[in-house]
Amino acid sequence: MLPPHRAARLAGLGTTIFTEMTALAARTGAINLGQGFPDSDGPGEVIEAGVAALRGGENQYAPLPGVPALREAVREHQLRHYGLNPEDLLITFGATEAIAAALLGLCDPGDGVLVLEPYYDSYSACISFAGAERLTVTLRPPDFALEAEALRAAIERGGGRVRVLLLNSPHNPTGRVLDRSELELIAAACVEHDLICISDEVYEHLVYEGEHIPPATLPGMAERTLTISSVGKSFSFTGWKIGWCSGPAELVAATRTVKQYLTFAGGTPLQHAAAAALRLNPVHLHTLRDNLRARRDELCAGLSAAGLSPITPAGTYFVNADVGGDAAEFCRTLPERCGVVAIPTGAFYDDQAAASTLVRFAFCKRAEVIAEASRRLASLA
Ligand SMILES: Cc1ncc(COP(=O)(O)O)c(C=O)c1O
Repeated sequence: MLPPHRAARLAGLGTTIFTEMTALAARTGAINLGQGFPDSDGPGEVIEAGVAALRGGENQYAPLPGVPALREAVREHQLRHYGLNPEDLLITFGATEAIAAALLGLCDPGDGVLVLEPYYDSYSACISFAGAERLTVTLRPPDFALEAEALRAAIERGGGRVRVLLLNSPHNPTGRVLDRSELELIAAACVEHDLICISDEVYEHLVYEGEHIPPATLPGMAERTLTISSVGKSFSFTGWKIGWCSGPAELVAATRTVKQYLTFAGGTPLQHAAAAALRLNPVHLHTLRDNLRARRDELCAGLSAAGLSPITPAGTYFVNADVGGDAAEFCRTLPERCGVVAIPTGAFYDDQAAASTLVRFAFCKRAEVIAEASRRLASLA
């Protein structure tokens, strides 16, 4: 029934690797370190704020820009953590909707969009929905550094059509936290080529070494950067899908224009709860970060004991390990061999040769789950 070109296009988008690997974990009963979601809830008082909003009649459409309490909390958050005072902001259904609506609102068909690869899988799909072209800047193991030459070459490949640089730091799936000199390269390229920067910062509070520097804080960038984040990773509420974007009025307005026809506005009680999360004492963020750091170290030790070579991440909740052979095959057989599911990092690269032996493991699980997964992995040796 579908014309062949359409069927082929949809097949090209495929299903996300996460869906596949989560199904594999369910089928085999293995520990799922494939998909990055925590297996315990965020702070109880945030849940109570959600319950109070549900019981208190906050159950109808939210205003399109978001409920005022959450808008105010996001504004305070940007100011308190980074000294940013954005012209406008918008509440979205997770960072995912902000990314999609921004790309659809800001790109014309044929525009070039620079992305660091490996990249989060929704980026390529949404760039394609916008009819734009993905131009990758490859981060290579083991250090995943951003190289000036790779950035310059990607801009050149765009042949004057590059319009957006879609950035993600702390970076999924590598765990890299871009340093100031790398961000300065990015800022220089954006200013020189008059690019819009869409900055996905969902792991902003999961930094174990170094610091998260929002690109919007660099000279010349506040006026061209749309900053995106959400409550999912910072507060362990990935299922709530409450996110936001902030920045220059024109960029936020473009995103809002598309968002109103994608979903309009909802999740009203959870928006109230997200406001409570952002207003928590920052000690909650620090505790989560410190717990995750301990799990990172335990999982890295398990991977080393298994004879693999983990690349210790400075941020996010993912660690990549070199398995010394074909990563896709390694992941296919891992559940049978030791009862763990992980993801071949190559799934996030266009350049398949760049990371053919790398596997990504998530460490955002309860301490006892990470301990058991590490024990199982160590048995591979
Ligand atoms: C880099 C990156 N951006 C965005 C998202 C999605 O964020 P949200 O759940 O808020 O839509 C994820 C989730 O894994 C991610 O890793």
